[in-house]
Amino acid sequence: MIEIETTEAPATGTGTLVVYARQNEALAGTGAAFWATTGLDWDAVTRTAGFKGKPGNVLDILAPTGITANRLLVLGAGKAPDVTLPTPMNAWTDRGGSLFGKLEAAKATVVDVVLDMAEATPEAIGELAAGLRLRAYKFDRYKAKKPDEDEVAPMRITLHVADKAAADLAIADRGAVAEGTLLARELINEPPNVMGTLELAARAEALAELGVEIETLDEAQMTALGMNALLCVARGSRQPPRLVIMRWNGAAADEQPLAFVGKGVVFDTGGISIKPGLNMEDMKGDMGGSAAVIGLMHALARRKAKVNAIGVVGIVENMPDGNAVRPGDIIRAMSGTTIEIVNTDAEGRLVLADALWYTQDRFKPRLMVDLATLTGAIVVALGVDQAGLFSNRDELATQLLAAGIKANEKLWHMPMGPAYAKIIESRFADIKNSGGRHAGSVTAAQFLARFHNDVPWAHLDIAGVAFGNPANEINTSWGAGFGVALLDRFVRDNFETPS
Ligand code: BES
Ligand code: MN
Ligand code: ZN
Repeated sequence: MIEIETTEAPATGTGTLVVYARQNEALAGTGAAFWATTGLDWDAVTRTAGFKGKPGNVLDILAPTGITANRLLVLGAGKAPDVTLPTPMNAWTDRGGSLFGKLEAAKATVVDVVLDMAEATPEAIGELAAGLRLRAYKFDRYKAKKPDEDEVAPMRITLHVADKAAADLAIADRGAVAEGTLLARELINEPPNVMGTLELAARAEALAELGVEIETLDEAQMTALGMNALLCVARGSRQPPRLVIMRWNGAAADEQPLAFVGKGVVFDTGGISIKPGLNMEDMKGDMGGSAAVIGLMHALARRKAKVNAIGVVGIVENMPDGNAVRPGDIIRAMSGTTIEIVNTDAEGRLVLADALWYTQDRFKPRLMVDLATLTGAIVVALGVDQAGLFSNRDELATQLLAAGIKANEKLWHMPMGPAYAKIIESRFADIKNSGGRHAGSVTAAQFLARFHNDVPWAHLDIAGVAFGNPANEINTSWGAGFGVALLDRFVRDNFETPS
């Protein structure tokens, strides 16, 4: 738990005082003034501690004299930024995350942070605050509390800034996006017996509280629409499927919406083509695409984004059962295309086929971006650092790549083309749902490309980045919430009507 406030006052409290020092430089500004009153010798102390002011360096002074704080933390800020270059804002998010890590290790409860360096713009402070909140997140609901943990008070952090009004605005704006990321992480982290199809749908529906318009399609409504691709995946499960449509209307009513579509497989056993047991528990995260779409809609609504956006999530569970879809079955998707099911574990593309077709057909979006933990092959190709990007428009791909770099949720542009489309031609139906081992992520994207009428479209295969990655400065939990910050940046930089 963490509470963040801001002040322009230089005075600090009796807790932990944090100041930043540049690499190979003495303290400057307010930090220098505080240091002077302690009577400590900067050169002697830093030399003894081996403190160089590099990012990650810490000088931890306990019970300093001359100042009210009972602890002084001097953190390395690295070299002064080159003023001719823009500071990458995600460096500030990481700085916030790193700060929380240090404060937690120090068991700090009341904290004052001096942010008077020139580059601490309101935007930078917004990122720092977001980094603090993202790092503070823990998923420990199902763990017994250790006796001394009961009384743990929320950490209260006061940021000492030059312009409180501007900082507060930036913190709220960026905080809305951090909240979206935290929501996505939470949905991914919850176990599959808690986050079933109806529960996940309910979490999407709860966005109504933020002014998001909600519509949910149940099994009967989807049957009437002919959504047999999505429905055939759900057939083996006791849990009913849902399609939840979230609409954020932040711009003029006649402005064509952006559409975001998510794969929401709450658990993927593989179905009749059942997966091996090793790490199957990870497949509770197979709704990571949906979690990102729900988190994004939360972020857009919370910060009242001036854009019309639609989020659509296809929610099913993939289980083996006497009623489950079989390899060899041929089904007709809502679009009319027939699909030979050759592997029931290639289920995500079936869910997205109908979700994408429905979205473009009903809403006529100006573009569609889908997110899905779609293929193990993308993890083989790109590992856990970047998601795969597939698109039918270079301009859209370029916008997404740029947003990924800014948000530090990176994408790698993957190829598509007729030679790959050929691999999923079926002997018996229009297409089959798996093309085998060659270029598995590309053939999955080619499959999705069959389910819209050449709308500007991009597909993000997030199987490697959605969960289970090594801890970093801003996330120590299993679920990553990948995609929320990226797509918020994409929307913000390219589609919002200026106010
Ligand atoms: N949900 C999986 C993909 C996945 C794998 C996500 C690892 C996250 C981590 C997907 O439904 C799947 O099973 N894909 C198959 C496709 C194959 C049968 C064509 C795969 O990647 O093996
Ligand atoms: Mn699968
Ligand atoms: Zn899956």
